[in-house]
Amino acid sequence: MIVVGVDGSRIGLQAAGWAAREAALRKRPLRIVHAMPAWARDATENDRYVGVARWMQDGANAVLNTAVEHARQEAPTVEVDQEILPGDPRAALLKIAPEAELLVVGSHGLGGFRGLLLGSVALGVAGHAACDVVVVREVPGRPRGEIVAGVDGSAAGDGVLAFAFAEAELRGVPLRVVHAWNRHDLGGILAASADEDNEQRLVKEVLAGWRGRHPDVEVFCEVVHDHPVAALRHAAEGADLLVVGSRGHGAVAGLVLGSVSQALLHHAPGPLAIVRTRREAGL
Ligand SMILES: Nc1ncnc2c1ncn2[C@@H]1O[C@H](COP(=O)(O)OP(=O)(O)OP(=O)(O)O)[C@@H](O)[C@H]1O
Ligand SMILES: [Mg+2]
Repeated sequence: MIVVGVDGSRIGLQAAGWAAREAALRKRPLRIVHAMPAWARDATENDRYVGVARWMQDGANAVLNTAVEHARQEAPTVEVDQEILPGDPRAALLKIAPEAELLVVGSHGLGGFRGLLLGSVALGVAGHAACDVVVVREVPGRPRGEIVAGVDGSAAGDGVLAFAFAEAELRGVPLRVVHAWNRHDLGGILAASADEDNEQRLVKEVLAGWRGRHPDVEVFCEVVHDHPVAALRHAAEGADLLVVGSRGHGAVAGLVLGSVSQALLHHAPGPLAIVRTRREAGL
C-alpha cells in the first residue's frame, strides 16, 4: 500500500497525484490520509463542542474527497481509499508508516512561512518513518524521463540502488548513478587522478550485480569530483526522481538522517525519495 498525506494545500494535492501515478506503476492500492485532532475526529453528539467538531470533520472530508478525485483522474485503475487519522499530522503519519511500502508527502503545506524550504510535517517524517518516503516538490515543466540515484559506496547504497533500478524499470527510463567525492586533503593532480580511478572502480563494483538483475535499464554512471549535495542537485535538475539513502558513510550514531540527505530535503530540485537504511545492515 502507498500512503499519501494531504492537508488541503496545492502541494499536498500534487503529492496525491504523484502517489496515485506511483501506485499505478507499482500496481498497489493507495490510501489518502488527513490528520486532525482526535477530540474533533471522535466527537459524539453529547460533546460540548460538537458543532465545532462537525465543522472540522466536514473540512477534513472535503480535503480528502478533493484529493481522491484528483488521484482517480491521475490514475483511474488504482484502488483508492481515504482515512482521517487522529492527532498531530507528523505523529499520525509516523504511526501509519509501518503499514505502508511508501509514504508520500508534499514539501510544504497550508501552514508555514513561505520562505521556509520545508514544512515541519515533511521534515518530521523524512528519515524518521519506518518506510521509504517521497517528498514531492512543486516544479515547473515536465520531467525529462530519468531517475537519478546518489551512492557513496556505503552499504546504504544497496537499498538506494534497489529502489532506483526498480523505479527506472517501472517507468522505462534511464538511471543516472552519481557518485561524488571530494577530498581536500590530497594535493596535486596526480593524487587526484589516482583517486578518480579508485572511485570509478568502487562504483563499477557496486553497480555490477544490479545491472545484471535489471538488464533492460539503461545506466549512466557519473563519478564527479564535487560536493555530493551540489553534484546531486545538478544531476537531478529536471529528473523524475532523485533517490538517496537516509544515511550513508558518514553516519554518526544517533543521527536519523545523513547530512547530504538532510540538505537535499531542503534543496532538491524536484521529487526526492529517501530510502530507509536498514538497521540490520549495521548502519
Ligand atoms: N494534517 C495533515 N494530514 C496529513 N498530511 C499532512 C497534514 N499536514 C501536512 N501534511 C503533509 O505534509 C506536507 C507538508 O506540509 P507541512 O505541514 O510540513 O508544511 P507547512 O504546512 O507549509 O508548514 P508547517 O505546518 O510546518 O507550518 C503536506 O503537503 C502534506 O503532504
Ligand atoms: Mg502544515
